[in-house]
Amino acid sequence: MKRVLITGATSGIGLQLAKDYSAEGWHVTACGRNVLTLQSWAEGRDNVTVLSFDATDTEATKAALVQEDMAYDLVILNAGTCEYIDHGEIDVSLFKRVFDINLFGVLNCIEALQGGFQHGTHLALMGSTAAYLGLPRAEAYGASKAAISYLARSLSVDLESKGVTVSLISPGFVKTPLTDKNDFAMPMLVTPEEASSAIRQGLDKKKVEVHFPKRFSYFLKFLSSLPMAMQLALVRKITRKA
Ligand SMILES: NC(=O)c1ccc[n+]([C@@H]2O[C@H](COP(=O)([O-])OP(=O)(O)OC[C@H]3O[C@@H](n4cnc5c(N)ncnc54)[C@H](OP(=O)(O)O)[C@@H]3O)[C@@H](O)[C@H]2O)c1
Repeated sequence: MKRVLITGATSGIGLQLAKDYSAEGWHVTACGRNVLTLQSWAEGRDNVTVLSFDATDTEATKAALVQEDMAYDLVILNAGTCEYIDHGEIDVSLFKRVFDINLFGVLNCIEALQGGFQHGTHLALMGSTAAYLGLPRAEAYGASKAAISYLARSLSVDLESKGVTVSLISPGFVKTPLTDKNDFAMPMLVTPEEASSAIRQGLDKKKVEVHFPKRFSYFLKFLSSLPMAMQLALVRKITRKA
């Protein structure tokens, strides 16, 4: 039986991935802080193990993840958060909160799990299409996801000799508790089911980047390929309208 470990499996994209991989017959190790939520959906599924820990806590993450058998076929480091800033005013504590889970949470998990990496291990990091461009109010969130994008690329080069594949997941807007808080228009919003399907298909093909929905992600990729002055002018125009 193939084994997948998923962080952030208590809600949104992570929960949907956990349900879908479990329905496909994988053994799922579902992680999150909220143990009751994890236990409630894992109940009655004998191919699901739950692990509750705060991924921002290096020691707690190690204690939960370092085990005798850490040989997962697939590791999806998805846990994350989003906080926006207002009027370009920097609030360092907000940046620290966002980076603590979106970047350091991922690093804590990798450090704990890397002893189990072997030929054939597939590591997937949750980024965002927000990392493609400088978007308004997304200074902290976008920067944390740009860091994930860089981390995925670097690790992809460094871990190749060990036979470890690294994929970056770059979703557009997905309807989850994280985006339910947004007070702006979210073009081409997809459901968690659609997101899970796109992610599972992309990871199955061992894509280096799984990005979706395609019309949205290719449009942002195109904008990001333009000279910076043009990019910024277009982003200003488009987001002012939204
Ligand atoms: N929704 C979107 O439009 C979208 C787009 C691009 C990228 N993403 C990324 O996709 C990932 C999942 O987002 P989502 O939309 O599914 O959000 P969500 O429903 O809010 O899920 C976030 C998950 O992260 C977990 N988490 C948060 N802080 C944690 C911590 N300190 N330790 C352990 N787990 C923690 C939460 O579990 P507990 O609270 O139980 O710990 C929850 O399971 C995030 O990395 C997000 O940035 C989302």
